[in-house]
Amino acid sequence: MKDLPTQPNQTRVQQSFRRGLDTYHSAATHQADIANRLAECLATVAPNALTNVFEFGVGTGHLTQAIQDRFTVNNLRLNDLVPECAAFAPSTATFLDGPVQQVPLPNDLDLICSASTVQWLDDLPTTISQLSNHLRTGGWLALSSFGTAQFHELRSLGSNAAAPSYCDAEDWRAILPKTMKIKHLSQARRVEWFPNAIALLRHLRDTGVNGAASQKWSAKDLKAFETSYRDRFGTPQGLPLSYDPVWVIAQKA
Ligand SMILES: C[S@@+](CC[C@H](N)C(=O)[O-])C[C@H]1O[C@@H](n2cnc3c(N)ncnc32)[C@H](O)[C@@H]1O
Repeated sequence: MKDLPTQPNQTRVQQSFRRGLDTYHSAATHQADIANRLAECLATVAPNALTNVFEFGVGTGHLTQAIQDRFTVNNLRLNDLVPECAAFAPSTATFLDGPVQQVPLPNDLDLICSASTVQWLDDLPTTISQLSNHLRTGGWLALSSFGTAQFHELRSLGSNAAAPSYCDAEDWRAILPKTMKIKHLSQARRVEWFPNAIALLRHLRDTGVNGAASQKWSAKDLKAFETSYRDRFGTPQGLPLSYDPVWVIAQKA
């Protein structure tokens, strides 16, 4: 694939996920469910034997495990921006670190998959189109991402923690290249509740998802954040944080 320049926020995203790596696997329960559902949906449309598979943004392996539980894979290539993710990869897989936009790939892939990662890519249509070029005819693209309601509470309070490419399910019709035929598209919003702002911010840090936030929190900032969040969104259940996952499965014509 042709190299694209490194994105300006990539270093921050990498640092943020690296910092959360020890806590990610157990803290990222939504991402674990989302990865499982992606593999489950794929299993309803794709054959269960796949020769060449590439997964990017593997993190600690939620999707890798979900795919291995449901499919027989001969050659598994894994990628993440954070080189330390190699420690979570199965020994039979090849791990390639760095931005997915720069990973060398063959042109006969049966499946390209990724969970909870593509929202971090600045130029989503270009990267998806370039990746699709590496699928064989009949090959599969299986992605989960997040829609425009993802963390909307944070954004409406002025946080810059948002990833650059939140897209709703229907947006994927325009993002995918014409050669990719959609076989599954869904979106299902859910809310997690926190007793206070510290617990909510800790959740973001532990799951590494505040990669675009540059803010350092003083005690005064924290108090102001808690007050605004409670005034605007607080309920007897606590402080809500919206997740807005999207699942996309397409086949190359
Ligand atoms: C939210 S985690 C998802 C991990 C795993 N797929 C899961 O479902 O739990 C996002 C991962 O994408 C990686 N990532 C972000 N931008 C990337 C890029 N441009 N290329 C490769 N990996 C990237 C991060 O380092 C992080 O491990």
